[in-house]
Parts: sequence; structure tokens; C-alpha cells
Amino acid sequence: MNQLALRSKFNEVFKKEKLYFFAPGRVNLIGEHTDYNGGHVFPCALSFGTHCVFCKRDDPKIRLYSLNFPNQGVIEADLDNIAYDKKQDWANYPLGVIKTLQNHGYVIDQGFELLFWGDIPNGAGLSSSASIELATAVAMNKVFNLYIPQVELVKFCQEAENKFVGMNCGIMDQFAIGMGKEGNAILLDCNTLDYEYAPLDLKGMSIVIMNSNKRRELADSKYNERRGECERALKALQTQLPIKSLGELSVEEFEKHKDLIVNPVERKRAKHAVYENQRTLEAVKKLKEGDLATFGKLMNESHVSLRDDYEVTGKELDALAEAAWAQQGVLGARMTGAGFGGCAIALVKDADVKKFIDNVGKIYHDKTGLRADFYIASVGGPAREMEKMY
Ligand code: GLA
Repeated sequence: MNQLALRSKFNEVFKKEKLYFFAPGRVNLIGEHTDYNGGHVFPCALSFGTHCVFCKRDDPKIRLYSLNFPNQGVIEADLDNIAYDKKQDWANYPLGVIKTLQNHGYVIDQGFELLFWGDIPNGAGLSSSASIELATAVAMNKVFNLYIPQVELVKFCQEAENKFVGMNCGIMDQFAIGMGKEGNAILLDCNTLDYEYAPLDLKGMSIVIMNSNKRRELADSKYNERRGECERALKALQTQLPIKSLGELSVEEFEKHKDLIVNPVERKRAKHAVYENQRTLEAVKKLKEGDLATFGKLMNESHVSLRDDYEVTGKELDALAEAAWAQQGVLGARMTGAGFGGCAIALVKDADVKKFIDNVGKIYHDKTGLRADFYIASVGGPAREMEKMY
């Protein structure tokens, strides 16, 4: 028996088995700020994400460490006394998931260690937090034999973020990460959670992710503000229309009844939600027909609507989108995610990608003084257990 086999025998006998889990990041192709308005989104999971290694302990302690935040050291909690604490920083995400599972009656009856490492750029709006949540959720599900269907894990992770962390996000990020499929984007109806996969056949084009490297300041408070504005717009429409969400309205219905929304800001927000939802459905149809040119045009319209009606772009994301629009071989470009900084995406002909990156990087730097980073999106699979490690 060689050394490796002996080590693995040791782990087997003394139950020091380590398990390995992975959850991707996500990028949204179109359908922004529609999820919490009961509309459609069209995101995909990425090939990069959060890796985590799990090992059981003999006591009820949880010990968490992230190689991305070494200064935070090991963060400890007790299984029967998990609470939000700002000082726990990133660890509030995994702790929130564990606590949420407990709240729903799932038994997690043994302590453990979890080591995290992620290659999603932090704060870029590619959902590093939802990725940590799902990595934790699939780990708990497996190790404690909870047998929770993946889509329920997705909902628990959203609940953890809403109630434990206090960020009032919609379901898109957790869904894309929990239910992603290699080579496919997901058309998700956020009202019903009905979904379908759409093969991302880009015919010699790439999705280039452009990271503005602008910190997403005030993103959470502005996000909650937008949600509030949409809720008030919906209430105004509900005085005469029997609808439960803005996502139920067609463009024509909205135009007919929009004057019920007296506040002009709230009317603009609702307009974006309704038009963006219809744009998303149209975009997926065009993609299926192989009409990438129209798909790209709809991406551009999405950005303009997020800029003018929803007002979540900011000068950095506008600079990236505008620079991208002016390049050869570009079919479309838009901001992605919550906005206020973070990333934009562009649909670019493979042969033009290099020049695109050089040119956009330069224009962006000249305009903002910031350096953008660029990644070619490669579409990966869902949050899952990876091969066993010893
Ligand atoms: C963030 C939220 C999502 C979604 C997007 C905007 O990523 O977490 O739920 O609302 O913003 O589309």
C-alpha cells in the first residue's frame, strides 16, 4: 500500500474525510431588476466560482476560513447559537445559510470546518456572495443527508440573504448558481419559478465581461430604494388593475394605465421593469432563432433603459457601454447585475476580441482614470459536490 492509500485509509478509519464543493458565479445576459418585479431574467452560471473544503469536527463548533480574506482569520460560531454579526464579515453568508436551514427544522448536529477560496472578483457584481451561500448549502445538504431539492436550496439561500444578511435581493443570483447548466443560459420566470434552458450558441462570438473596478458604493441602499419605488408604482396600478406584479403587464397595458402612477420617478421605474421584461422574452426568442444582431440591439436598449429610467448605471458603467458600442465586431453591450459599479458585458466577434479589450480599456481609463479588467465568459454548471478529497 503506498503512502497516499495509507493516508486515505487513515481518514476513512478515523472519519477525517474531507469533502469538496464548488459553486459558480453568475452573469446576467438580459432582464435586469426584473426578478423582484415578478418578471423574467436570463442569466448563466460561470465556470469560475467558490471552492470549499469540508471536514467534520467532534464538537458543535463551526470554524470558517476564507483564503480571500486571510486578515479575518478563522471565524468561529456555535451550532446552537448562530447570529448575524457585522464583524463576521463574509462569514455571515455561510452562517446565514446554516441558520436558515436550522430555522426550517433541518438537523445539523455536528460541528465542522469549512475552508473557502473563490476566484470571482470581489464586489464585481458577479455574485460572489450568492456563490458562497450555495457552496455552503450543497455542502450541508450532502453531509447531513438533508435531501433538499436543489431549487429549495436556492430559495433558502435567498432567504438567508434577505433575512440574515439584510440584503433584499431577488431570486436571480441564487437560482442561476444553483440551477446553472454548462453551455446554457436560463430563462427564469421569477413569478412562478418556471424555467427553461437555452443553449448559448454564439456562432463565433464571445461574451466579454468588463469589470469597471468601481466599488459598488451605496449599492444596497439604492437597491432597496428602487424596490420601494417599484412597489409603490405597483400599488398605484393595483387601484384599477387586478395584477400581483409589474411582470404581468404587457407594454401596451402599461402604456394604457401608466398615468395611474402619479409620481414621475416611480412611473419611470415601473416603465423599465415592464419594458425590460418584454425585452428579455424577445431577446431569448431571437437567440433561439439565431438572430444575434437583434439580441445585441436589445442588450443596448436594456442599458439605455437602466441608465435613463432606472438610473442604476453611473458614469463608469456608461463609459464602458459607450466605449463598447463604438467598437468593431460588437453586436451589443450593457451593464449587468445590480449596477452602481460592478460589471458590464458585450457580445463581441471572436476575431475582434483582442482589439476590443485594448480599445475599451484605453477609452475607459482616459475617461475615468480607472483600469477595467476583462474576462471571456465561459458558461459552467451548477453548485455541486466535486470529487472526493482526502
Ligand atoms: C442583484 C440582485 C438580483 C437582481 C439584480 C438586478 O444582483 O441580487 O436579485 O435583482 O441585482 O437584476
